[in-house]
Amino acid sequence: MLAELIELKTNKSESGSLTFFEGTRDIDFDIKRIYFTYDVPKGQKRGAHAHKNLSQILFCPHGQITVVVNDGFNSQTFVLDNPSKGLIIKSGIWRDIYFDKENSVLCVGASNYYDEDDYIRNYDEFIKYVESGYWK
Ligand code: TYD
Repeated sequence: MLAELIELKTNKSESGSLTFFEGTRDIDFDIKRIYFTYDVPKGQKRGAHAHKNLSQILFCPHGQITVVVNDGFNSQTFVLDNPSKGLIIKSGIWRDIYFDKENSVLCVGASNYYDEDDYIRNYDEFIKYVESGYWK
């Protein structure tokens, strides 16, 4: 599986909706870091990297974001068009992230602290890691 789209629990009432998830209980990792990306021009592409050892959950509380994931063999496209959708991406998956609408917000919960050494930002290098069996 390249990534897993999950439906996050949501409490809906006349006063509004509240979506939530808990590390370890609702997803199979704990969250050490949360970050969010915003003020991104419509149509802008971000991402374009893989992680050596990191689990992440991506969600879009406002707007619409398309995530294209790729394991070096196959690719799959997920559209985060509702705040209750969560996309889980594990290690060894290349991701391209497109901000489809103005003012879209991408939130990410990550299993570890920021570490630039954990990034693979060059696609050819990513393919070398795949071919080496690094994630097997
Ligand atoms: P990056 O993960 O490359 O963002 P995107 O995939 O959306 O393009 O992060 C962009 C920069 O932000 C990165 O070079 C360093 C900084 N950054 C941090 O300092 N801490 C973080 O937790 C993250 C995610 C990024």
